[in-house]
Amino acid sequence: MIRSPTASGRFLSFEGIDGSGKSTQARRLADALRAAGHDVVLTREPGGSPGAEDIRRLVLEGDPDRWSAETEILLFTAARRDHMERVILPALSAGKVVVCDRFADSTRMYQGLSRGDLRDLVDQLHDLMIGREPDLTLLIDMNPETGLNRALARQGHEERFEGFGPDLQRRMRTGFLALAAEYPDRFRVIDGNRAIDTVAVEVLAIAMDALA
Ligand code: ADP
Ligand code: TYD
Repeated sequence: MIRSPTASGRFLSFEGIDGSGKSTQARRLADALRAAGHDVVLTREPGGSPGAEDIRRLVLEGDPDRWSAETEILLFTAARRDHMERVILPALSAGKVVVCDRFADSTRMYQGLSRGDLRDLVDQLHDLMIGREPDLTLLIDMNPETGLNRALARQGHEERFEGFGPDLQRRMRTGFLALAAEYPDRFRVIDGNRAIDTVAVEVLAIAMDALA
C-alpha cells in the first residue's frame, strides 16, 4: 500500500462514462484553479506517467479480447501504481492540487462490473497496491446515448470500451451513481447534460469549496 506521510496537497478526480465531458471539465478546472493561484498538476488515467502511458496503449489499443478481465485489473492497477509513485504522490507532497481525469473508481466500474462481478478483486488489489482515494471525486453524470455519440465522434484508436456499445454505457452510468451513493463524503454528482460553461461554473464552485 502507498502511504504518503507528508501529503499536504489536494487530490481531485473526475469520473463518468465515456464522452461525459470529463477531459473538457478537468482542463477547465485546472485552468481556473491556476488563475486563482493554485499550483495544479493535470493528469489522467490510464496513463499520466511514461510507464503508465505505455500500459495505456497495451490495454486500449488492439484486439478487445487480448486480456482476460483479471489481467486487465492487474494492468490498470500497475499503471496506477506507477502514476501514484512518480506523479501524484510527489505533487501532493509538494502541496500541489492534482486534478486527475479518471482514477480507481473507473477500475471499480469497468473492470469490476463489465465482465462479471469482480468488484471485490478490484478493491482488494486497490487496498494492497494503491491504498488511497481522491479527496474529492466529481462525477459528471450524462445521458448514456449522448455520451457514446460524443465519444465515437472523436474517432481515435482507443475504442476498447466505447466499442462495447450503449448497453455498457447505461450500466456504467448506473454503476457510477451507485458508487457515488456508496462514498457520499468524497463524491459530488454534476449534471453533464448542460452547456460546457454552465457545468464548469458548478465544478469550480464545488472544487473551491473543497480546497477552502
Ligand atoms: P470524456 O473525457 O468524458 O470522454 P470529453 O471532455 O472528451 O469527454 O468530451 C467529449 C466530446 O464532447 C468533446 O468533443 C467535447 O468537446 C464535447 N463536450 C464536452 N462537454 C460537452 C457539453 N457539456 N456539451 C456539449 N459537448 C460537450
Ligand atoms: P478515457 O481516455 O478517460 O476515455 P473517455 O475520454 O472516453 O472517457 O479512458 C479510456 C477508457 O479506459 C475508457 O473507456 C474507460 C477505460 N478505463 C478502464 O476500463 N479502467 C480504468 O481503470 C480506467 C482508468 C479507464
